[in-house]
Amino acid sequence: MAKTSHAPSPDLDAIWSALAEHARDIGEQHMRDMFAADPGRFDRFSLSLGEILLDYSKNRITVRTMELLKDLAEQAGLKEWVARMFSGERINNTEGRAVLHTALRAPADAQVMVDGRNVIPDVHRVLNQMEDFCARVHDGRWTGHTGKVITDIVNIGIGGSDLGPHMVSTALRPYWKDGLNAHFVSNVDGTDINETLAKLDAQTTLFIIASKTFTTRETMTNAHTARQWFLDNSGNDHSKVCRHFVAVSTNASAVQAFGIDRENMFEFWDWVGGRYSLWSAIGLPIALIVGMDNFRQLLAGAHEMDVHFRGADFPENMPVILGLLGVWYRNFLGVSNHAILPYDHSLRLLPAYLQQADMESNGKGVTRDGRPVDYATGPIIWGQPGTNGQHAFFQLIHQGTELVPADFILPARTHHPISEHHEILSANCIAQTEALMRGKTEQEVREELAAAGLDKERIEALTPHKLFPGNKPTNTLLLRQLTPFNLGKLIALYEHKIFVESVIWNINAFDQWGVELGKQLADIIETELDSARDCTGHDSSTNGLVNYLKRQ
Ligand code: F6P
Repeated sequence: MAKTSHAPSPDLDAIWSALAEHARDIGEQHMRDMFAADPGRFDRFSLSLGEILLDYSKNRITVRTMELLKDLAEQAGLKEWVARMFSGERINNTEGRAVLHTALRAPADAQVMVDGRNVIPDVHRVLNQMEDFCARVHDGRWTGHTGKVITDIVNIGIGGSDLGPHMVSTALRPYWKDGLNAHFVSNVDGTDINETLAKLDAQTTLFIIASKTFTTRETMTNAHTARQWFLDNSGNDHSKVCRHFVAVSTNASAVQAFGIDRENMFEFWDWVGGRYSLWSAIGLPIALIVGMDNFRQLLAGAHEMDVHFRGADFPENMPVILGLLGVWYRNFLGVSNHAILPYDHSLRLLPAYLQQADMESNGKGVTRDGRPVDYATGPIIWGQPGTNGQHAFFQLIHQGTELVPADFILPARTHHPISEHHEILSANCIAQTEALMRGKTEQEVREELAAAGLDKERIEALTPHKLFPGNKPTNTLLLRQLTPFNLGKLIALYEHKIFVESVIWNINAFDQWGVELGKQLADIIETELDSARDCTGHDSSTNGLVNYLKRQ
């Protein structure tokens, strides 16, 4: 159960209490009644931005809720925080870094200063380098070492250096260049790279080693395995490696030490967080597979959302609305989680992508200045594409004891207009949001069972099982079509939503110290797994598990 007793700062005490009291007031109200009482509810609680429509009317909110949430955002200084982020202030205070993924999609004539230097020319220099490289691969000027054209791109990276490019490339499958395939290797489990390499020809494969730090154990292990495989399959000639390996990193010396030419390295900067990096050269696999023109469309879509986020008043601001709704459920209605349910098979990796974006950003237990929080922060993000989820976990959302707010995402037009597939998909998406909101009343269940001819006793026994409480909140995001532009906008929408929440919670959304301890201990245990001696230095469970593995 979320704690609602304390506000993130004393300045917010009054508005926090007002929201808590309001939550108690509307706690018993059912959305079915809200819709019945207000035929204009959809118009009131929906907005369009170009080709994206957000319907947030199926939430447990009233006009008063949104007013109070807007007041909360104002009093938390959201406007000022947005300006600070866009202007390049070092708002990632624990790492002393600016947070400028928005600069990666800004037009060439924009100006964003970091340490007295405008970063936009650097951004566009790397974009042009990517464009040139993509053109050479596509038109066959860049070939493998035997002169054959490149047919397969393998991105080796993990976390932000994998999830974004992988998700976007999968989402934009209809835009893939003829004759090219993309593969993504992330897991240090040898199965991942082994299964990928088995499909490839060393003469026609290009590896992208993507790592901001170029020290990440998983990525470097996979990179070395890929290089060895390449050497084994190309006469062990090290001079050929440079035709088949390029790097994306902020760490030029480590890239060179690996054996990749400086000129085949695509740079980015410490002010780009890993989970916000797909817009940088980390997007190289996207640009290669869908073409640089489409990659630029992705950037342009994200930029349109940036302009909206920066300029729109809070009541008409999509990321602000979504972020405030997130806070509403997390802090005032005791909700622990949030489901991402894309009704588009191409977006099947979006839930995993947003897990990192949201949970690595807002999974924090201390405020910006290091005090433990006494209120709930980031929720658990999870999900799967529809309609698959309907036949798996939707039972719990409809009738279980956990409240699961969910985002339904549906393109109006499909890239695959085959028979009635898209109508079925769309009908299910909309029907689920209606069912979750309305539920089914006891009277409706009884009438239905009676109409089916059941006797009184059977009706009595079955009614509780067939009841749907309803009042389950959903947002629906309708995209005209899943184009690069609209996808860029959608991703940026979620990035900014996450930022809005972090501002209200007074946490730093841009560090990730919580990933460090496991890495440190894994290094120690790796050495112990290699040693002939029994492991004794840990607790009995850890010692026991290590020693069991060693005996196998
Ligand atoms: O371990 C977490 C993390 O640091 C993520 O934040 C990051 O996206 C990922 O690892 C990969 O890091 P790198 O790009 O430096 O290899």
